[in-house]
Amino acid sequence: MKIAIYPGSFDPVTLGHLDIIERAAKMVDKLIIGVLNNNTKNPLFSADDRVNMLKEVTSHLDNVEVEAFSGLLIDFVKRKNADVVIRGLRAITDFEYELQMAQTNRTMEPTFDTIFLITSLQYAYLSSSTVKEVAKFGGDLNKFLPQQVIPKVKDKYNIK
Ligand code: COA
Repeated sequence: MKIAIYPGSFDPVTLGHLDIIERAAKMVDKLIIGVLNNNTKNPLFSADDRVNMLKEVTSHLDNVEVEAFSGLLIDFVKRKNADVVIRGLRAITDFEYELQMAQTNRTMEPTFDTIFLITSLQYAYLSSSTVKEVAKFGGDLNKFLPQQVIPKVKDKYNIK
């Protein structure tokens, strides 16, 4: 049984993340979405909210589980008996950061491996921060966020 972990902040989950999740879920027996809890980014949503949103938007995928984690990713990978970590690559600018993370993780745990999926073209520019910026000023979120997530983001910014 092949188990993969897709880790991230998901503050909030975007259509870009969902694209990676749907594609990765087809490649493995079980995909565990790991929601980072000890976040220095001062998140808009609590870890519980982020986990619940992810569960809602992945309810159509039988082999996907969602769980919060804190501490090192390599420890979460070990606890879950996962074989591999999945990350999305949007542009060349992601590459250096991802290379650094993958190599740090591999130095700490030599069995650690990362598989990178190239984000679909229509989401190549998307990030949670960009979407929050659009939301803050009342922009249209339909092309960026899953339908279930839109009212929750609007609520945070008191948008009708
Ligand atoms: N579509 C849309 N957006 C995407 C995306 C995609 N396919 N892939 C990444 N992003 C965006 C996110 O929305 C986020 O945007 P933001 O910065 O504007 O909020 C940004 O890219 C990066 O976020 P994310 O992919 O969630 O990664 P992260 O940097 O928040 O977290 C972890 C990465 C969780 C894997 C990493 O921090 C980690 O492993 N932490 C645990 C501690 C640890 O082990 N450290 C040692 C590793 S070096």
